[in-house]
Amino acid sequence: SDEYDVKICCMGAGYVGGPTMAVIAKMCPRVRVCVVDLNQKQIDAWNTDELPIYEPGLLDVVKTARGRNLFFSTDISGEIQKADIVFISVNTPTKTQGIGAGRAANIKNCELCARTIAEVSTTDKIVVEKSTVPVRTAEAIRRVLKCNDKGLNFQVLSNPEFLAEGTAIDDLESPDRVLIGGSQSPEGLAAAEKLASVYANWIPRERILTTNLWSSECSKLVANAFLAQRVSSINSISALCESTGADVSEISRAVGMDDRIGKRFLQASVGFGGSCFQKDILNLVYLCETYGLDECAEYWNQVVKMNDYQKKRFSEKMVAKMFNTVTGKKISILGYAFKKDTGDVRETPSMFVVKDLYAEGARIHVYDPQVKREDMWSEMAYTCGISPDTDPKLDAAVTTSPDAYAACEGSHSVAILTEWDEFKTLDYEKIYKSMSKPAFIFDGRNILDHDKLREIGFEVHAIGKPD
Ligand code: NAD
Ligand code: UGA
Repeated sequence: SDEYDVKICCMGAGYVGGPTMAVIAKMCPRVRVCVVDLNQKQIDAWNTDELPIYEPGLLDVVKTARGRNLFFSTDISGEIQKADIVFISVNTPTKTQGIGAGRAANIKNCELCARTIAEVSTTDKIVVEKSTVPVRTAEAIRRVLKCNDKGLNFQVLSNPEFLAEGTAIDDLESPDRVLIGGSQSPEGLAAAEKLASVYANWIPRERILTTNLWSSECSKLVANAFLAQRVSSINSISALCESTGADVSEISRAVGMDDRIGKRFLQASVGFGGSCFQKDILNLVYLCETYGLDECAEYWNQVVKMNDYQKKRFSEKMVAKMFNTVTGKKISILGYAFKKDTGDVRETPSMFVVKDLYAEGARIHVYDPQVKREDMWSEMAYTCGISPDTDPKLDAAVTTSPDAYAACEGSHSVAILTEWDEFKTLDYEKIYKSMSKPAFIFDGRNILDHDKLREIGFEVHAIGKPD
């Protein structure tokens, strides 16, 4: 009836909904895409050039399509009514209370979306789970949708997202694969084909996989579990290296050159962070437990345990090397985001190191090129249960510095906790001169030239390297 072939509404304008829909809109000018959210501030920001999330290349993509076939709105009902395809891309955090607290994923927001869709729709729709969910969530969504009293037909698809933050635009423009799970009935297959034909505007058909619903939901959890497992595996070896004189970077190289193992995701670190690895593994652990598969649950739980150990090991090593006390000492933290090229601090390892050093009575100066102080505190309150409100000394103990040099001036030790490129090219002679001696560097990402730093005079400790 109008100029568009397909109309999409995406519920949830976060790290996934925003970039994913912006790329669909850019690549498919004949598809109308509207991203809706309950949060007015978030939607307002998407409609300016100060986007609510930092992601390289995102603003250009948004500007190409916004106002043409990409829209951001809080008119949730109106936009659902217009759409042929409704994506659910809301957050699915780990439950904090009740059955499965601390492990199970809470799909409350997904269920609420399904209820809204059932209530306001006036035409048939394809409903797409984009959020990461426990296996069989599509069944819950299908049942909620079925309760609409207008005799409408809804097809539920699973279409998990595999983008990584910091590289989201590249990942979306040329994904390794797009996965679409659906019911194997003629209606289910037709719905899957309709969604596949949107992606086929820019993604080769052989990269668009279709499976049944449960395989699709489960593959997302498995992909994240395997990726995180590689990080925990190499991190476990980093501890062994520090005790034996082996060098973890040399091991990653030697082991990764075996094609069967592969090079990627073998970078030892202070630990993995981000909103999903831990959440999704715990989701998998809880699913295994639910089906009585305790050994499988315990197997995957070790990946999270190893990560907790690695974060703790890092802060304990800092204290141990600095003569077993950091009380009253100034410590500089370079990098607070959970990885480079994002401002996201969810589950960031830096937070755990800062929390430990704060407990030791250190004065902490943090510099990160993208992280806002308020985000630092809200994540710490959510995850660690401490904030300047509950703990007024915290505010005074943690300073956020305008640049790396200010953060390092007069400090006893520098810890690199995010692998931002700009940390590689800082003037470390200048930093050394401005610091208390002995001057320590703890390289939690192995990005610096340690020999050169030692020549300058630093005492250097890195991950999985001889001291
Ligand atoms: P997010 O917190 O950044 O965004 C979620 C948005 O949904 C928020 O803006 C929130 O206001 C909105 N929302 C919640 N309930 C709503 C409702 N009923 N109606 C409308 N809007 C609602 O979360 P995210 O990082 O984008 O993650 C979303 C999902 O995608 C999660 O399941 C996550 O596991 C998965 N995922 C995330 C990533 C990532 O890199 N962040 C990658 C792949 C998959
Ligand atoms: C990860 C996956 O890579 C995505 O495919 C997935 O879609 C996403 O989770 C999700 O479901 O949310 P993301 O968390 O954004 O993406 O970033 P990653 O690049 O995977 O890094 C995760 C953490 O592991 C970071 O803290 C990173 O520093 C750490 N990491 C990664 C290492 O310590 N070593 C490595 O070799 C790789």
